[in-house]
Amino acid sequence: MKPDRDAPVGVFDSGVGGLTVAREIMRNLPSEKIVYFGDTARVPYGNKSRENIIRYSRQIIHFLLEQQVKAIVIACNTASAFALDEVRDEFGIPILGVIEPGARVAAQETKNKKVGVIGTEGTIGSGIHAAFLRSLDPEITVIGKACPLFVPLVEEGWLHDPVTMEVVARYLQEFKDRDADTLILGCTHYPLIRSTIREFMGEGVRLVNPAYETALELKEMLKRQDLLSTGSGQEEFPYRFYVSDLADKFKAFANSILPYDVEMTRKIDIEKY
Ligand code: DGL
Repeated sequence: MKPDRDAPVGVFDSGVGGLTVAREIMRNLPSEKIVYFGDTARVPYGNKSRENIIRYSRQIIHFLLEQQVKAIVIACNTASAFALDEVRDEFGIPILGVIEPGARVAAQETKNKKVGVIGTEGTIGSGIHAAFLRSLDPEITVIGKACPLFVPLVEEGWLHDPVTMEVVARYLQEFKDRDADTLILGCTHYPLIRSTIREFMGEGVRLVNPAYETALELKEMLKRQDLLSTGSGQEEFPYRFYVSDLADKFKAFANSILPYDVEMTRKIDIEKY
């Protein structure tokens, strides 16, 4: 059965990072309703095994289906790297990830064909960006680096902090040394420290935030499948937020980065799914 076009889009991440993707969907597809799930009880995903990430992703998809979503955006690079291929055709609704949209832009934008990718240990270890970039352009050199301290710094809210600047410098010096002209923010948490990354890397390096491209890809996909919302039946609260732990902390963080008051954040037991 074809999903209801006025049903919400499901978006999920290990925590607050996917809000950077939700934010772009809100800006670029203002008629769409969103059900967001942040797996705050099990964050970080970046240092967990592929098997666990696939299991978590399936549980979350089951939960989102119970919310009757019409499509799902895996707003997490780690889950996109490990689980997207496994789950894409399993549930009868469209499921998108964040890796390909960002890599496509990077391949278009690089002039010297040296593209840097930063992400979690899981994402960088999977080599998925490198494989996709080289399939687009075999001449591209990909420099990947895991930056595992970024996620806790972001979750702690230290977005513009001297400690964060120091950590950014330690991780990213290599990209300067190797002359990368384009850097993919390959973890949905990282756009939240974009200005600190920009300050260190300088204006000459193109920073790719795949969130925007993912929102555009979602729009195209919904259009193609005749699933764009008509905007009718808009509820008073078109965005609903769920987490697996500490709803108040999530809510405070979400309120600080979304152009919208996160009224309703509920904690659910994700292990039930
Ligand atoms: N934000 C996620 C990503 O894009 C995961 C971060 C984490 O939980 O380690 O990979």
